[in-house]
Amino acid sequence: MTDTHKSELYYPSEDVIAQANVSDYQALYDYSVQDREGFWAEQAAQLSWFKPWDRVLDESNAPFYQWFVGGEINIVHNAIDRHLLNANRNKMAIIWEGENGQVRNYSYNGLNREVCQFANVLKSMGVNKGDIVTIYMPQIPELVFAMLACAKIGAVHSVVYGGFSQEALASRIDDAQSRVLITADGGWRRGKAVDLKSVADEAMKRSPSIEVCICVKNNELDVDMEPARDFWLHDLKALPIASPKCETEPTSAEDPLFILYTSGTTGRPKGMLHTHGGYAVYTSTTHRMAFDIKPEDRWWCAADPGWITGHSYIVYGPLINGATLMLYEGAPNYPYPNRWWQIIENYGINILYTSPTAIRGLMRFGDRWPQKHDLSSLRLLGSVGEPINPEAWKWYHHVIGQDKCPIIDTWWQTETGGFMACPLPITPLKPGSATKPFFGNVMKVVDDQGNAVAANEEGKLVIENPWPGMARTIFNDDARYQELYWSQQADGHWRYLAGDSAKIDDDGYIWVIGRMDEVLKVSGYRLGTAEIESALVSNHNVSEAAAIGLPHELKGSAIHTYVILKEGATASKDLAVELREHVAKEMGRIAMPESVEFVESLPKTRSGKIMRRVLKARALGQDEGDLSTLEE
Ligand code: WTA
Repeated sequence: MTDTHKSELYYPSEDVIAQANVSDYQALYDYSVQDREGFWAEQAAQLSWFKPWDRVLDESNAPFYQWFVGGEINIVHNAIDRHLLNANRNKMAIIWEGENGQVRNYSYNGLNREVCQFANVLKSMGVNKGDIVTIYMPQIPELVFAMLACAKIGAVHSVVYGGFSQEALASRIDDAQSRVLITADGGWRRGKAVDLKSVADEAMKRSPSIEVCICVKNNELDVDMEPARDFWLHDLKALPIASPKCETEPTSAEDPLFILYTSGTTGRPKGMLHTHGGYAVYTSTTHRMAFDIKPEDRWWCAADPGWITGHSYIVYGPLINGATLMLYEGAPNYPYPNRWWQIIENYGINILYTSPTAIRGLMRFGDRWPQKHDLSSLRLLGSVGEPINPEAWKWYHHVIGQDKCPIIDTWWQTETGGFMACPLPITPLKPGSATKPFFGNVMKVVDDQGNAVAANEEGKLVIENPWPGMARTIFNDDARYQELYWSQQADGHWRYLAGDSAKIDDDGYIWVIGRMDEVLKVSGYRLGTAEIESALVSNHNVSEAAAIGLPHELKGSAIHTYVILKEGATASKDLAVELREHVAKEMGRIAMPESVEFVESLPKTRSGKIMRRVLKARALGQDEGDLSTLEE
C-alpha cells in the first residue's frame, strides 16, 4: 500500500456494516471467480422463470456468449408481475415529481395497469414480438411504461435520449428500422416547455420506416398530428382494446430486450443489444449487493431513463428488487439550487445515485443549500459516468452524506449492462477509485502488447471473463462487435477491451483514468467526436471538421471544434455562433461545442485520418508526441 492511498482510506461505520447484504467481499469474490457459473446460477434462482435454464453459460460460440440457455423468462414478469402476488402489490413503485411541483405516484398494482394498457395499445398498432419500437420521451412515467410495455410483449425497445435532436433520432430510427415511434408533445426544463414532437416530425421525414407515432400529452404545446400516422396515447387508452389486463409474453433468456445506441470510436453510433435473462440477473444482483437494497428503501437514481444508467438502475434493477423509485423531471437547480435536497427531505430518500458532474454542479452553489434540509434519511450515495475527482467526492461524502454514507463509485458501460467494478457498503473507500471488481469479474490493466502492467502503472482496462449483463452484440453488426471489444488470448480465452485507461494500485484498487478513444464524456453524457463532426459538416458552410474534448471543471470534458470552411464562406464570430447552434439543432444541446475555431488545415495521418491527439496536445500546450505518421 502506498502512503498516499493509506491516508485516504475511509472506513464504513459499524451501523452500515451490520446491515450489509454481503458481509465478506473477499470470500464471496473468490468463490464467484472459482465457480462463476455456480455463483450466477444462485443469483438467477432468485428470479421467477417460466422454464429453468439448461445451461448457465454457453461458450461454444465465444465471444458471442449465451447465458441461461434454454431458460424462459420475461424481465417484466420479474419487475412487476411477481410483486403483485405479495405485499409489494400495494407498495409504491414510482414517485414522480415534475419541475412545476406536480406529483404522480404509482403502486406496483397501478404500474401494472398502466403497462398492461400500453402493451395492449402497442399490440393494437400491430407491434409483435421482436419488433423494435423507438421511444423518444421526456423523463415522465410514460417513458417507463413504454419501455416495460414493449418488454412485456416481447418487443424490443430502442430509447433515444430526449435531449438528443433530429439527426441523432433519425439515424437511430433508421438503423433499427422501427415502424413505431413513441414520443410526447414536449417536456419541461427551467420552467419552459421543450418541444419534442416537432423534432420527432423532422426525424420522421428523414426516416421513412415509421408508420405509427404514439404521442403522450405532457404539456400544452401545439403540435402537428398527421392523420393515420400520429395518435394521442390518451385517445388510444380510451378504446376498449386498451384493457388494463395483458398476459406477459414468455421470452427465451437470450431474446432481445432492448437496443441502446452509444457512441464509439468511429462513424455512426452502435446499437448495443441486451437480452431478457442475463440482463435481469445482472442488474438486479449488482443493485441488491452494491446498494444494499432493503424492502423499505426509497431509491433515487437521478439519471435519465434514456441512457444505460436509467435503463439498468432506474427501471429494471430497482423494479426487479421491488424498490420504490424516485423520478424527477427537471433541472437540479430549478427554481433554486436546493431542489434535489428538498426532494430528498420531502420523500425520505435513502439512496442517491448520480454523476460527478451533477455533484460538482451543485457543489458550486455552496454548502448552505443542502444545509437547509434534513438529509438524515440518506444511507448510501452513488456515483457513475466518469472518474470522480477527490474534491467532489469529499464534498459529497461530508456535506451530503454527513460523513456516514459510503460512496458507491460504480464503473461500467452501456456495453456491460451493469456495474463491473464498485465497492460494497462494507468496502474501505479511496476517493476517486471504483475499488474492486464486482463478483465473477477478473479485471486487469495491460500494455499495448496485452501484458499486465505493474501495480500503479497506467494501461488499458480489460475484463477476462464473460458476465450475464454483457451486451450480446452490436445490432446488425456481429463482426464490428467482435473486432471492437474482444481479442482471443494465447490460452484460448477471450478478453474484453473496455476502451478506458486505468491503474490498479498495490491494494488491488482500480483507478479509472478516462477514455482512450474518440469517445467524450461531457457532463457524464457519452458522445462521439464523429457524430459532432458530421453534424458540423452537414452545415453548408463547412468542408471539414474535427472535435476534441478538453478538460472542463464542471463538465469533466468540454467539446472544442476545428472547422475548415468551404470556398466562399467567410470566418466570423457570427458564423461560429451559427455553427454551434447548428450542432445543437442537429444533435442536441448536450453536444453543442464550447468553441469553434476556423483553420486552414487539420493534422492528418497519411491515410487521411484526423489526428485529434495532436489537436488536443496543441490546445493544451503539451508535447505533440510521435508525429511520424503526420502528413502536414
Ligand atoms: C466512464 C455509463 C470512471 C468510462 C454507465 C466508461 C466511469 C464510460 C465511471 C461508459 C466511473 C463510467 N469512474 N469512469 N465510476 N462510470 N465511466 O456507456 O469512461 O455512458 O467507459 O456508461 O463512462 O459510458 P456509458
